[in-house]
Amino acid sequence: MIVTNNPYCYFYRLPILIPKMKAIILNENGGPDKLVYAEDFPEPLIKPNEVLVNVKATTVNRADLVVRTGYPGLQLKFPHILGGDIAGVVSNTGSDVKNFRVGDRVVSWSIVSEADDDWARRGKAGQSPAWQYFGMHRAGSYAEFTPVPESSLINLPDNVSFEEAACLPVAGLTAYHAIKTIGDLQKGDKFFIWGGTSGLGIIAIQLAKSIGAEVFATAGYPYKIEHLKKMGVDHIFNHRDGSAIDDEVLNLTNGSGIDVILDYVGPEAFPKNFKMVKKGGKILFCGILTGREAMVSLHQTYLRHISLLGLYLGEKRELEELVKLVSQGKVKPHIGAELELKDAAKAHEMIAKGEVIGKVVLKV
Ligand SMILES: NC(=O)c1ccc[n+]([C@@H]2O[C@H](COP(=O)([O-])OP(=O)(O)OC[C@H]3O[C@@H](n4cnc5c(N)ncnc54)[C@H](OP(=O)(O)O)[C@@H]3O)[C@@H](O)[C@H]2O)c1
Repeated sequence: MIVTNNPYCYFYRLPILIPKMKAIILNENGGPDKLVYAEDFPEPLIKPNEVLVNVKATTVNRADLVVRTGYPGLQLKFPHILGGDIAGVVSNTGSDVKNFRVGDRVVSWSIVSEADDDWARRGKAGQSPAWQYFGMHRAGSYAEFTPVPESSLINLPDNVSFEEAACLPVAGLTAYHAIKTIGDLQKGDKFFIWGGTSGLGIIAIQLAKSIGAEVFATAGYPYKIEHLKKMGVDHIFNHRDGSAIDDEVLNLTNGSGIDVILDYVGPEAFPKNFKMVKKGGKILFCGILTGREAMVSLHQTYLRHISLLGLYLGEKRELEELVKLVSQGKVKPHIGAELELKDAAKAHEMIAKGEVIGKVVLKV
């Protein structure tokens, strides 16, 4: 008999028998040392519309580091469980769940969005102001079990491993949404990405190549540049050796520039993006590695018909399409490191140092 202090439990503070699970618990914001491994954290209860997923794999995303440290305006309910990527097996279903059974292999959209609002009616539920992100607005996947509304779940084909599936809901989906939907990249287009060996970058490059785009990508270290060569990237640059990449790109494109640029670097890259984007081209933003703000010439933006487009994550149907591409062998996430859940703090340090190619997976 235990008294639960699990805020996800309906019977908060009532003495009931609650099974225990492994989890990484965040009791306060701070460094990686605040990620506490427990084997006796109360298993969450599920609501009628939810499925209890026995998590088999998750990954570490930059967002996890930001939530751990403390995001301005985000109030966490401690103890908090991080993790936006959920891949596992259904272990229990709520009374209203219709399409999933115990034992089903599943991967979850990283978003919960169930409001019947303007965004949902336009097929953009992922952009709804009522959205929730696993590991940020609700419990995430750094745990043996996590509750997921049926509306966010996707069946996982047998030939996609849990580890590969865990690479898709955050980094993979963002790459898909950027390339296929927002960028609308076309055969023959020139596509540029900074940091092409990130988890997001590798999937973006694979998608761009499969479309038939000419791919320009950067990396900061020789071993990462070698990886880009193996991926068949057409033009490779080192963003840490001081070379004038924007000028090189303009030379290679006879002065016309790039059709679609995918940028998560931010202010440091912005002037170069602006210089090398083609007239009528697009700059897509999905990250702020070097800061939050940049100066923009409104005059040049309209005069050159430049589209500046922001995005994060994507829609559930896009994740379904991406899972299908992985199942068909057309996209393959790159797993640079696999660690046990208890080593989450080490995994956070690896991401912070940027020493891994592709994704860092946590096996649960
Ligand atoms: N908006 C969204 O929905 C969303 C979703 C997923 C990820 N993201 C963002 O996308 C980014 C990539 O995430 P990830 O988890 O896939 O990768 P990651 O492991 O965080 O990789 C970071 C990448 O950034 C590159 N980089 C760092 N500083 C750079 C600079 N000054 N110039 C050029 N490149 C630089 C690194 O390249 P080298 O190591 O080769 O130098 C590395 O490839 C993160 O910023 C993340 O926040 C956004």
